[in-house]
Amino acid sequence: MEKEMVIVLDFGGQYNQLIARRVRECNVYCEVKPYTMSLDEIKAANPKGIIFTGGPNSVYLEESPHYDKAIFELGIPILGICYGSQLMAYELGGEVATAPVSEYGQTDVTADNEGSLLFEGVSQKSICWMSHTDYISKLPEGFRRTAWSDVCPNAAMECAERRLYATQFHPEVMHTREGMKMLSNFVYKVCGCKGDWQMASFVETTIRQLREKIGGGKVLCALSGGVDSSVAAVLLSKAVGKQLTCVFVDHGLLRKNEGDEVEAVFGPNGSYDLNFIRVNAQERFYSKLAGVEEPEAKRKIIGAEFIRVFEEEAKKIGAVDFLVQGTIYPDVIESGLGKSAVIKSHHNVGGLPDCVDFKEIVEPLRMLFKDEVRKAGLELGIPEYLVYRQPFPGPGLGIRIIGEVTAEKVRIVQDADYIYREEIAKAGVQGLGQYFAALTNMRSVGVMGDFRTYDYAIALRAVMTSDFMTAEAAPIPWEVLSKVTNRIVNEVKGVNRVLYDCTGKPPATIEFE
Ligand code: XMP
Repeated sequence: MEKEMVIVLDFGGQYNQLIARRVRECNVYCEVKPYTMSLDEIKAANPKGIIFTGGPNSVYLEESPHYDKAIFELGIPILGICYGSQLMAYELGGEVATAPVSEYGQTDVTADNEGSLLFEGVSQKSICWMSHTDYISKLPEGFRRTAWSDVCPNAAMECAERRLYATQFHPEVMHTREGMKMLSNFVYKVCGCKGDWQMASFVETTIRQLREKIGGGKVLCALSGGVDSSVAAVLLSKAVGKQLTCVFVDHGLLRKNEGDEVEAVFGPNGSYDLNFIRVNAQERFYSKLAGVEEPEAKRKIIGAEFIRVFEEEAKKIGAVDFLVQGTIYPDVIESGLGKSAVIKSHHNVGGLPDCVDFKEIVEPLRMLFKDEVRKAGLELGIPEYLVYRQPFPGPGLGIRIIGEVTAEKVRIVQDADYIYREEIAKAGVQGLGQYFAALTNMRSVGVMGDFRTYDYAIALRAVMTSDFMTAEAAPIPWEVLSKVTNRIVNEVKGVNRVLYDCTGKPPATIEFE
């Protein structure tokens, strides 16, 4: 069966992967390719459609990225977005100029959509998201205008006979209200896709590609039990089985039972074919952390010790051919677009490449967004509680204990956090981005039974956030908070007070460190 796919040709726009993701949401396989991909390579890939992305340049400047005009003669449908639309106009004999007024943000757009496949079912007046300083001032021959705004005379154009379409606005961003409809029209009505791609196909293709790439090579993966490294490890295990060794460092700063849960899934009695090494390094970490109070110092110690432990294990294994990283697309953006071999900057993975003797890094999740990684995880049969895990920082509970970390304090925060998570789940509280218990370094007087106590206060935190850059404290129902409080003071020895953190980010951070 011929594989259906759409190529997103990247001209440097910010939303290139988002476009690809939207197309995949239409159940059509889609990959982002650099605009340096040759015409022959495009022909060989035989895509059902091509989408030109936006980009920061002006098409009329020589140094801006252009593409061989012959691409418009291939008979493959093309949708140009923003810079991509200007490029199409310019190359086909239209004109592009600096707009008298730049347009940024949500803009009222009117569609002359009569008979346009791209705008089929789209309202005549719609809100679209613009971000441009240039615009198409004159359409190329054979094109008709299909939308305009107050500032932009040609907000969309098309030449239906040649199946060439263009929008100045960005249909891929969610602020373009009917953008998904337009993209779906493009892939189904213009390109004639059937839409039979699903995450299962991604999983299948990736496993096949990994098998081809790795051959008989040895592979090493640092498994944290988080969703990204778990999904990456399972993909590798399905591809090359026992050629993969996963090293799981239990630094004694994980959530309650977490180490055993990871072992139950990935260890010798678990569900996957791989070599699993659990390093129980709890005591090592606790002794390094003894007497250290400053949060940044704790982070550095935990990070450095993690690398030392991993290095020792890696030495035992010897040289490997590949090192697996669970890098996902947002990590790639954070670390700078388009750079090769970008490594997660967070402490517990960042230093690994230097301490392992390997030839190449493999990053099977590099083009996926978090929710796509979760879908792939479910597809691979990874248990839901692992797939839907909250974010958890590499330094773990080490930074959720204010002041010095001790084994006793770890036990307190683990138990309190476990109760909190259990009660939130029982009450079915929705919409939380992250929630956990932290141990303050404050002790105060209380009375329990007939005895005076002088014990610690636990802080409960819960935030609502979509990007983890900003967050609001969540209004957890009082009954839930009071139940959690009762249980914590009754069940967790060493705690006599529970506080709720009402602070947003900024000014606080999400973590309580
Ligand atoms: P903050 O506390 O800076 O955290 O608002 C934002 C998000 O990042 C997570 N976080 C980390 N994740 N390694 C990680 O993998 C770390 O060192 C780390 N520190 C914070 C935090 O849990 C929140 O989701």
